[in-house]
Amino acid sequence: MDDHPLDDDTLLAEQLAYYRAGAAAYDRQYTRYEGLRKLLTLVDGLPVTGDVLEPACGSGRWTRLPAARARSVTAVDGAAEMPAIARRHVSHPGVRFLRADLFEWRPHRRYDTVFFAFWLSHVPPARLPAFWTTVAAAPAPGGRAIFVDDGPATAGHEELLTDRTVPTAVRRLDDGSRYRIAKTFRAPRTVAADLATLDWSARVRPVGGNIVGIAKPPSRAVEP
Ligand SMILES: C[S@@+](CC[C@H](N)C(=O)[O-])C[C@H]1O[C@@H](n2cnc3c(N)ncnc32)[C@H](O)[C@@H]1O
Repeated sequence: MDDHPLDDDTLLAEQLAYYRAGAAAYDRQYTRYEGLRKLLTLVDGLPVTGDVLEPACGSGRWTRLPAARARSVTAVDGAAEMPAIARRHVSHPGVRFLRADLFEWRPHRRYDTVFFAFWLSHVPPARLPAFWTTVAAAPAPGGRAIFVDDGPATAGHEELLTDRTVPTAVRRLDDGSRYRIAKTFRAPRTVAADLATLDWSARVRPVGGNIVGIAKPPSRAVEP
């Protein structure tokens, strides 16, 4: 693979290809990293309740938290391989898995909570306003978005390509294959400021090297 800068679409296609090819091994980070386990415990105490939409559900490690107490969970991921893996963790009848490209997909109904883990950092800066507009279309009146992600303190763990317009990291799979992904390490105050610009009210805080946000969309949010 040569390493010339990629346009957003090509980078996002390579990002999805990375998660598809690595789906079987994706889950093992949850047994390796203490910080992730602590974050799971923290999120278990947050109000991810009612009818829940979970974009980028991955292997279902987070899905199983609301599954136990939510009315329903609609878990969306672009990788066809992920639902089969996620079903090992989540067998609750109220959970539905959908395969969709989150840069195209729009919610067709309202949800009480939109929860996403480690997805915001994969949204390139130019796609951010459209992403938040899509999220804003999902919550029912009084609903909110809750999210966790990597913060700037974790950037040192990644192999970053610093010459890119779109912040890009390199990931490798066990077979030696190499993929470029979009990865922006946003500080809590940056995310809060982005949301304020879009008329959300948000509280975003650091937790270890991660960020945890709870945000309410503007009341005139886009109709789904
Ligand atoms: C960092 S993982 C997060 C998974 C899970 N939320 C977690 O924290 O363990 C990113 C997820 O986004 C999914 N993904 C990547 N590109 C996507 C796209 N364009 N549309 C939908 N899902 C996508 C991947 O398949 C992967 O499951």
